[in-house]
Amino acid sequence: MAVAVKRIGVLTSGGDAPGMNAAVRAVVRTALYMGIDVVGIRRGWSGLISGDVYRMDENSVNHIINRGGTILYTARSDEFRTEAGQKKAVATCKLMGIDGVVAIGGDGTFRGCLALARHGISVVGIPGTIDNDIGCTHYSIGYDSAANTAIEAIDRLRDTMQSHERCSVVEVMGHRAGNLAQYVGIATGATAVLVPEKKWDFKHDVAERIRNARLNGRTHFMVIVAEGAFNDDEIMKDPGSANKVADMIKEELGIDPRVTVLGHIQRGGAPNARDRVTATRMGYWAVDCLAAGKTNRVVCHRNGTICDMDMEEALMIPNALNEHEDTVLRAMTGGEFYEK
Ligand code: F6P
Repeated sequence: MAVAVKRIGVLTSGGDAPGMNAAVRAVVRTALYMGIDVVGIRRGWSGLISGDVYRMDENSVNHIINRGGTILYTARSDEFRTEAGQKKAVATCKLMGIDGVVAIGGDGTFRGCLALARHGISVVGIPGTIDNDIGCTHYSIGYDSAANTAIEAIDRLRDTMQSHERCSVVEVMGHRAGNLAQYVGIATGATAVLVPEKKWDFKHDVAERIRNARLNGRTHFMVIVAEGAFNDDEIMKDPGSANKVADMIKEELGIDPRVTVLGHIQRGGAPNARDRVTATRMGYWAVDCLAAGKTNRVVCHRNGTICDMDMEEALMIPNALNEHEDTVLRAMTGGEFYEK
């Protein structure tokens, strides 16, 4: 069957996520399998602007399915937001004969794709971010591995919190999205979880829950705070949501919590089975789209299956927290029940 593209480029952009390498590998292997030339673009859109592009073959992606990070490096490019930057990127595509690009990243990466598409390059995006905050897809590569990293760390904290009968406040990543905090909160049996999307009241949502837990006989408490839980730009500029919550706990309850900021540890490490398999399937799907002559598509995972969606439509779908997870979390943490 004839394919619609001759040479495609693959790049990773935005924050890295475990499984990005598996996606790059799948793009390369699928392209070669379909008789399409493939080049790697280093450092996301910046590499396309500067022409930091190299030919990839079967061997360029050996032994990376199990590796965290991204062999293509990643970056956020301000220059690519400008018309001049986009023209330079298009010039690179012309010079190198790149007629399609697969970009692995988040919403910002997909917006970059649209800019390139306006200049006639075929584009397909693959969702890769530990935040799992891309509205069009129920799953983005890296989420499960990052959650498991956080869970392993929190389980360790729990051991020592239990021995010392303490309260722990743990900050997980999620500048604007609480998906990871909510998921990890369920998996670790947290006492309270604070996310940017839901209005929360310290006395009601933290202090009362710790008090109730204590009255029920528990002597250690685990509070999970998303990085951007305060949803306040001033505080976000000066990170430390967990420290702030710990101070409030000390002031209100007279106990002395210990703070742990998990930070970028959550972004590293080997991808787990779910991320390796999802990344491989999405990488295959992306190349299949380009080969079939499709453009402006985002590969999505919806209701258990892989599919693709128009990129502009996809970008209009806002991120949402999983409502059922929110409901069960409320039940598990002793929040109030109300009829829907
Ligand atoms: O990858 C997404 C994310 O982890 C956010 O949760 C976080 O706020 C942000 O990246 C931090 O990214 P960086 O430190 O690389 O700028």
